[in-house]
Amino acid sequence: MIYSDTIGVMDSGVGGLTVLKELIRVLPSAKYIYLGDTKNLPYGCKTKEEILFFNRNILNFFLTLGVKDIAIACNTTSALTYEDLKKEFTPKGLRIFPLIHSAAYAAVEGLNNSDCICVLSTTATAKSGKYAQEIKKVNPTLKVVEIPCPGFVEIVENRLYDAKESYELIKEKMQIVLENNAKRVILGCTHYPYLVDLLSKFAPKEIFFNPACSLAKSIAAVIKNTDAKGDIDFYVTQAPEEFKKSAKLFFDVQKDVKCIKMPEFSLK
Ligand code: DGL
Repeated sequence: MIYSDTIGVMDSGVGGLTVLKELIRVLPSAKYIYLGDTKNLPYGCKTKEEILFFNRNILNFFLTLGVKDIAIACNTTSALTYEDLKKEFTPKGLRIFPLIHSAAYAAVEGLNNSDCICVLSTTATAKSGKYAQEIKKVNPTLKVVEIPCPGFVEIVENRLYDAKESYELIKEKMQIVLENNAKRVILGCTHYPYLVDLLSKFAPKEIFFNPACSLAKSIAAVIKNTDAKGDIDFYVTQAPEEFKKSAKLFFDVQKDVKCIKMPEFSLK
């Protein structure tokens, strides 16, 4: 068991709040520092090189604050750069907890051999094949269909829930789920729990699996709180007021959100 006062939670925007919510449920007295890299979202259409650059800045920021435990509340980061980050930042004292790895076991629970499981995710996560890889380690007979959903993150960040285009886009992706007769659908991007009401117009709510719960449980299994006061600080890299508005559907951010400047990415 590790004693920890503060947990850093990172994502490109409001998506990671779906993880923070679960963390608070299992570790209510921890102190949390949330960072949404809003200037650089969406991560899901960026290259690995860019995402790694953003991630390094974020982890260095947490290091300067003395935060040692980091929840990677972003599937795209977990899929593409987790191994690199672990190699680079573990020797600097960070403990990094990724999403996908902890989710695979819980996601397949109750499924029968050769059932189909669909994964809705960003393009980068789908291309990485990471979900299929991890799920196959648990049950190689399952059929895994990874469905890239570019545009979903923008619906959440820009609060476009009522737009006709949003409905059409979600319908198109859910069509693939229905054609495959999927028994389970993983919300493979932390922004997607915001879309459950729209997604469940096409399939029963119970079919959707949110990996945030497994990540929170896996962190709670190794971290024991000292008696911090259950406080949360919020940081973004752009547009703090927009962040608050977009968060609202899932998480009521009462405090001021601080805006910080990070180094800009440029091709060498
Ligand atoms: N919410 C993140 C994820 O789980 C990032 C989405 C994005 O910025 O494209 O992948």
